Amino acid sequence: MANPNFDIGIVGLGVMGANFGFNLASHGIHVAGYHPHKEKADAFTQHAKAEVSQKGLVQGFSDLKIFLNELKKPRIVLMLVPAGAVDKVIEEFTQLLDKHDILIDGGNSHYLHTQRRLDRLSDLGLRYLGMGISGGESGARNGPSMMPGGDPDAWKHVAPLLEPAAAVADDGTPCIAWMGRGGSGHFVKMVHNGIEYALMQLLSEVYDLLHRGGGLSHAHLQRLFTSWQDSSLASYLIDITADILTQPDDQNTGHLLLDQIRDKASQKGTGKWTSEAAFELGIPTPVIDAAVSARNLSDYYEERQQTSKLLSGPLGISPDTLQARLAGALETAMFLSYSQGMHLIDKANKTYGFNTPIASVASIWRGGCIIRADMLNEFVDIYSHDTPPVNPIFSKEHADKLSMLESDLRAVVAQGALGGIPLSAFSASLAYYDSWRSARLPANLIQAQRDYFGSHTYERLDQNGSFHTHWHHQD
Ligand code: 6PG
Repeated sequence: MANPNFDIGIVGLGVMGANFGFNLASHGIHVAGYHPHKEKADAFTQHAKAEVSQKGLVQGFSDLKIFLNELKKPRIVLMLVPAGAVDKVIEEFTQLLDKHDILIDGGNSHYLHTQRRLDRLSDLGLRYLGMGISGGESGARNGPSMMPGGDPDAWKHVAPLLEPAAAVADDGTPCIAWMGRGGSGHFVKMVHNGIEYALMQLLSEVYDLLHRGGGLSHAHLQRLFTSWQDSSLASYLIDITADILTQPDDQNTGHLLLDQIRDKASQKGTGKWTSEAAFELGIPTPVIDAAVSARNLSDYYEERQQTSKLLSGPLGISPDTLQARLAGALETAMFLSYSQGMHLIDKANKTYGFNTPIASVASIWRGGCIIRADMLNEFVDIYSHDTPPVNPIFSKEHADKLSMLESDLRAVVAQGALGGIPLSAFSASLAYYDSWRSARLPANLIQAQRDYFGSHTYERLDQNGSFHTHWHHQD
């Protein structure tokens, strides 16, 4: 048999798999693709021929044994398949792979599933990586942000192959870095998505406040969002939102496409997983939670048509004075969204022993991914210190910055409340901020209630220990 030709095999030749294959090939990597259907495998080969920019070989295979024989050893196989198909693919491949071969899951798998697969495959002598990849179709083709974790030895082997295909941050750093042990790569990608939900919800609330509440035109909003790109708010999601605000309907109705889209947000579940993990680890992530709940509520489209006729309240805000405050409010809420995600990763490090370098997380999120934003440079600085705070809100420097901006957030939330525009994520941001600045919270009353009805005991401020009281019912 001739020597194997290919540096890496890709399983799953959908949009992500095919585009990432072409990306690797454009950096001189020889890529074999596998799809059980010959037409799909051949289409990959044909599509590759039409791509002029690639330097590496690209070929599709529909015979699994031939595909694996064509890979250099130890073999590297990257799975880019839907989360539900990963176990099936692993079962098929483990029969045919040799010890020390490397399997990489590049999809959006749950980190606990990744942990389980890693444990099982390492017992079989295989090396496994769970790697979050962000950036959608264009990221896959031109440079995504990649979050690999799992077997450190496997990472050393694949890093030189994958690094050239990653996005590059403005300071020249590649947006790929080791995220740590176990399911850390998918944990970090999950948190990325939780933050993605929060930022998308915040931007949709700005749109609702100014357009439905304040009567401002889409063109006006587009100019506002575009102007923010020259400020500390500069980010991918604001950029695409500005584009969306002026895109005409592609079905030639003469309307803006945005106006024709049903107000019902779908989700594949990674935002919910982030909230679930945060509840499990006891870390408050209320902006992310609010964003998940807002999507859930939007799903009740038919019911909202009814309740909109039943429930009364104000509708409308005065946008003039508010516009100047929105940038500060958004900056605060965005900062708090990232902070909540970082706090969660810090706790996962301590609980699961991931050893994720949080400065690297902030660094690789600066390019290629959906939540890329200039603001992440601040997080790189925060977490590059010798003793970084577990949450940036705990550091004097950032507390000072938030204290300067909090009145903008407060003004926006107040206007939304008075004008009847639901600002779920902005309100959650403000309550989160106000909770952290409250040396005393009303949890003393909750403890009293727990002890009253359930003898759950409480702590005292003036003595150590647990206390229980026979509470008196007042007639
Ligand atoms: C990315 C995205 C991507 C995600 C979509 C849809 O980083 O490229 O996070 O992985 O699948 O954004 O997610 P939802 O269906 O949950 O909105």
